Amino acid sequence: MLCHWVRLAAVLWVAAQVFGQSDVPIRARSYRNIAPSTGAAIPIGRRVEVSVPLGLPPVRFPEDNPPTAETIALGRKLFFDGILSRDGKVSCASCHDPQVAFSDPRTVSIGVDGLAGTRQGMVIVNATHSFAQFWDGRALTLEQQAEGPVQNPIEMAHSLAGVERKLAADARYVELFGEAFSPGRITFEMVAKSLATYERMLVSGNSAFDRYYYGGDKTAMNESAIRGLKFFLDNTLDGPNCVSCHRIEPAYATFTEERFHNTGVAVDPETLNIRDAGRLAVTGLMKDRGAFKVPTLRNIALTAPYMHNGSMKTLEEAVDFYFQGGRPNPQLSGVMPHAPLHNIPLAGQPQAKADLVEFMKALTGEMPELASPPGNETGHD
Ligand code: HEC
Ligand code: HEC
Repeated sequence: MLCHWVRLAAVLWVAAQVFGQSDVPIRARSYRNIAPSTGAAIPIGRRVEVSVPLGLPPVRFPEDNPPTAETIALGRKLFFDGILSRDGKVSCASCHDPQVAFSDPRTVSIGVDGLAGTRQGMVIVNATHSFAQFWDGRALTLEQQAEGPVQNPIEMAHSLAGVERKLAADARYVELFGEAFSPGRITFEMVAKSLATYERMLVSGNSAFDRYYYGGDKTAMNESAIRGLKFFLDNTLDGPNCVSCHRIEPAYATFTEERFHNTGVAVDPETLNIRDAGRLAVTGLMKDRGAFKVPTLRNIALTAPYMHNGSMKTLEEAVDFYFQGGRPNPQLSGVMPHAPLHNIPLAGQPQAKADLVEFMKALTGEMPELASPPGNETGHD
């Protein structure tokens, strides 16, 4: 645990040196530089080409962790295996279910010994297109992210050294790690790199929206979803302003962006206290109080409940929340829409809300081929 905090502190210190303490958003282009490679574990297997589904940008792989058939297969096996947890029962997939775009249908995640977390499990499909990981962005790469759940006492409650020992005692894993990296000691760096590569393969696009917007198929979305898209794109404070945070670019759409925002979800509606400091815990800056990562909206119809605390059960509830301008608090984002959204006459608002929900339903994409547990083809039970 201590070791984890020291490491986290070191990452934050480096981040602070690189980005300074300004309001400037962290740019995705620069984050690779601050996760120094130890150069110890380099994949040696067969390189694979990764194709990009309609509507998504290319997947960027770090130089020291290119995709290989071996690391992908290994990452997939690890992801679905309880071996990474202390009691051997909790796997990554326990909280990131491939049936629902690798999200968690529970309000907050439940880990080893049935301990409940405080935050809602996140969607891992398309996580590679987020510029930082976790609701508060505390990990900058998927490689760094993997340490979090393994060590978290209320998730997998294990130690990195403990995981290394368990894997080293398993002949099949020794063989697979040897093929993927090189024969010898299995290190957690190898585990993290394999998991990260598998996760980078989990991209999902070619939704009805993609076929309509990028593929030129005007029949791909229904009339209501097309109207919803128009409302979504209205980027004024008297309109829904969704696209200002959930971005749609000319050539692709990630529906996220490189900033954290306080929308007021963390405000307790009764006491008006902020219940989760969010990004403040990472930066120490008051302006980041209650601010969270902008989650992608791709596959959103599959991933209820919503928000960092799982406090909203339906997309209708989420849209209502925005039409009320979020929940007031001192750090409320300046880009939240202003109620009562003067651009849409009050009488038309129920239909506009329904249209926005219909639009979000058009964001369900094709699931990637690897989005299932490995079969028995590995010869390991
Ligand atoms: C006990 C439930 C649980 C387990 C087990 C678990 N996770 Fe998570 N995962 C979560 C929760 C909850 C979050 C959000 C936590 C936060 O932001 O503080 C999350 C966030 C993530 C994210 C960030 C996604 C994003 O868009 O920012 C990734 C990636 C991820 N998990 C991968 C993994 C991997 C890989 C494993 C296995 C090594 C794993 N998780 C195991 C519950 C879990
Ligand atoms: C100021 C930036 C901002 C604007 C504007 C905005 N969002 Fe969000 N959105 C966020 C953030 C940040 C979160 C996560 C908030 C949290 O959990 O505390 C979020 C969460 C969501 C979620 C839940 C996602 C999940 O995986 O749980 C939905 C759905 C959503 N937004 C839809 C919309 C729609 C529709 C609009 C326009 C009406 C919109 N958003 C406008 C920043 C924004």
